[in-house]
Amino acid sequence: MLRIDIITIFPEFFRDVIDFGIVKRARAAGIVEITAHDLRGWTTDKHHIVDDRPFGGGDGMVLKPEPIFAGVEALTGAGRREDLPPQTRVVLLSPQGRVLTQAVARELAQPESQVVLLCGRYEGVDERVVEALVTDEISIGDYVLSGGEAAALVLTDAIVRLLPGALGSETSAVFESFSESLLDCPHYTRPPEFRGMRVPDVLLSGNHAEIERWRKDAALLKTRRNRPDLLK
Ligand code: ADE
Repeated sequence: MLRIDIITIFPEFFRDVIDFGIVKRARAAGIVEITAHDLRGWTTDKHHIVDDRPFGGGDGMVLKPEPIFAGVEALTGAGRREDLPPQTRVVLLSPQGRVLTQAVARELAQPESQVVLLCGRYEGVDERVVEALVTDEISIGDYVLSGGEAAALVLTDAIVRLLPGALGSETSAVFESFSESLLDCPHYTRPPEFRGMRVPDVLLSGNHAEIERWRKDAALLKTRRNRPDLLK
């Protein structure tokens, strides 16, 4: 099974959301184990302080290295990147990371492995975490969130649904958006007419060759309209 360990100052953030849908089913089936850990649990001072002012001045606070190194060491057995077991990844979620794509999610979706997700907060994380501990620094897009928690959720969902057995049918992840660098085609269900809007006739025709052709064209059209960059 894949083990996902999330290190965060808001472990409760994850408690409910990992209990729905595909992620819930995958956990119940023993495909993945997801645990959110409180970073403060690895502090050694009386007040459980996890952040401090930045050297060189400036606004905001920076997450201290000590509790993060201690947490990763407790969860993986290694306190330096070189000592990590080969199937272990330590991921920092931050706007400075490489951008998450389906290919990145696929890379991390290894059944017998461990992924530690470090959620950044405040103005940032002490860079020695990136220098010596992290195997992957990942951003979920070119916008700034108030912390890495929502990004860790996004990454967790993208990974879990790619694990063998997580989806109802093994093929459903193959034909969807990005697997062929096109967006998914539009989908319709009953009723065939709703508020004057009709489902395209071809989808009701039962002609599977025609339907396939329509879906390819419609996917191309949607991609051209919404994501022309994917066609280059
Ligand atoms: N933390 C803040 N913004 C983020 C982003 N875009 N991706 C990942 N982690 C973040």
